[in-house]
Amino acid sequence: MPRAIQITAFGGPENMQLVDVDAGEPGVGEIRIRHHASGLNYIDVYQRTGLYPNALPLTLGMEGAGTVEAVGEGVMHLAVGDRAAYASNPPGSYSEVRVMPARNVVRLPDAIDFETAAGMMLKGLTAQYLLKKTLPVEGLQAGDAVLFHAAAGGVGLIACQWAKALGLQLIGTAGSAAKCELALAHGAAYAIDYSREDFVARVKAITGGRGVKVVYDSVGKDTFERSLDCLRPFGLMASFGNASGPVPPFAPSMLGPKGSLYITRQTLFTHIATREATQAMADDLFAVVSSGAVKIRIDQRYPLEQAAQAHRDLEARKTTGSTVFTI
Ligand SMILES: NC(=O)c1ccc[n+]([C@@H]2O[C@H](COP(=O)([O-])OP(=O)(O)OC[C@H]3O[C@@H](n4cnc5c(N)ncnc54)[C@H](OP(=O)(O)O)[C@@H]3O)[C@@H](O)[C@H]2O)c1
Repeated sequence: MPRAIQITAFGGPENMQLVDVDAGEPGVGEIRIRHHASGLNYIDVYQRTGLYPNALPLTLGMEGAGTVEAVGEGVMHLAVGDRAAYASNPPGSYSEVRVMPARNVVRLPDAIDFETAAGMMLKGLTAQYLLKKTLPVEGLQAGDAVLFHAAAGGVGLIACQWAKALGLQLIGTAGSAAKCELALAHGAAYAIDYSREDFVARVKAITGGRGVKVVYDSVGKDTFERSLDCLRPFGLMASFGNASGPVPPFAPSMLGPKGSLYITRQTLFTHIATREATQAMADDLFAVVSSGAVKIRIDQRYPLEQAAQAHRDLEARKTTGSTVFTI
């Protein structure tokens, strides 16, 4: 029987169990994929704790790469034997084999290996839609400064490199001097250790007092309000995560005196709602990775049976770049 990491109750990493599962046969619009690697993402923590609820029992994991083993009726873009990868709902990538909707699964170019794919699909598609589609009203022009929190993480290191390729000045924040070095080595123009420094003051100093046009904030509760103070008038607060906890309710009226700010809460799953959109975004990601402009750093590898330890390390802010489960 294939094995998978499941939870039967929301809670801590200790709830994650390695179990035998029957993957079954693909139905209409589905495929069965045999994973060679699977990705770790912070959303897996939200789903494990129940912050983002799902039906139980739940096999965790939203990102994977492997070989297509069986194809259901109506699936035209994949064939048995194809190398493939995905970022996708529903969860289930912490598994050796799974059946899943084909809509968000794309063929993997030969130049991209399975571990790289498992380390980049969800994070890279996120960096793509943030930097290219989540833009302030005036758009972003080469030379513009943007603020990107958790810049040494999985999404962060991809964003540092991609922003540089787009000609942007990415100001990254990270929780230690070593993480700041990593962000700088991957294309951040500036890095701020927000565990020690006042990032609002630093951003103001770097931008000559004006502030940035957009803040990409996945840290949530701990940074939200101060992020608003880093924006120039009409700037955009792009909230896309809650690593420190969800942003508490706030009064929209506070956005006026801070400079008529815009605010959005984005999720990848709106952007990849169709197969066509998924393919277009994936092609853009594959191009930037194949060209070498964005390198996928896999800094941690765990066997699937150590998934709970991987969660502990992620939550303890011990990881950098991407983390994959080798299968
Ligand atoms: N909405 C979307 O479409 C979408 C898609 C993908 C990811 N995301 C979000 O983007 C963020 C990055 O995802 P990722 O998978 O690449 O994770 P990651 O950045 O590799 O890990 C999260 C990082 O957040 C920082 N952090 C700040 N406060 C924290 C706290 N109290 N506890 C734990 N970490 C804290 C840590 O970096 P420092 O130590 O440097 O602070 C940590 O390494 C997550 O918030 C995730 O939910 C959103």
